[in-house]
Amino acid sequence: MAESSAEPRVLLLNGPNLNLLGSRDPRQYGSVTLAGIERRVQALGAELGAAVECAQSNHEGVLVEQVHRARELDGVVFNPGAFAHYSIALRDAIDAVDAPCVEVHISNVYAREEFRHTSVTAPVCQGYIAGCGPAGYELGLRAVLARIEERRFL
Ligand code: DQA
Repeated sequence: MAESSAEPRVLLLNGPNLNLLGSRDPRQYGSVTLAGIERRVQALGAELGAAVECAQSNHEGVLVEQVHRARELDGVVFNPGAFAHYSIALRDAIDAVDAPCVEVHISNVYAREEFRHTSVTAPVCQGYIAGCGPAGYELGLRAVLARIEERRFL
């Protein structure tokens, strides 16, 4: 974990197909690109006194390694994409890391196909945000910073 007195360091992590944001099904996901979302979350981080590092991968193993990297950070805002619905490897990775993780889905997964109603990763996260559009990532950053702050007083 990072030094508790230092500026909190948060990883903004995105899973498969989220590199296509901006052109992928704008009705579900809006028209902002991933780079645009990352810029917004980093700007909010600067405002709130947090450093935000960004990563995206379409590969499960790479995402597992990114989650492991969070052992040196204070928190994670993670949209696992479709992996949320079935990746036990990602669930175990999140569970193995002490830093709080907030799961974000841009779309309202509960208003969509039934297979999207299950998240195997959410039960090991400290927060869950879905259906708020791209703004869900900014809410996710606020939520993870609140979790980090709570831990300082434990
Ligand atoms: C998503 C929802 C998932 O069901 C889907 O597979 C995605 C995007 C979302 O952000 O709404 O890739 O995680």
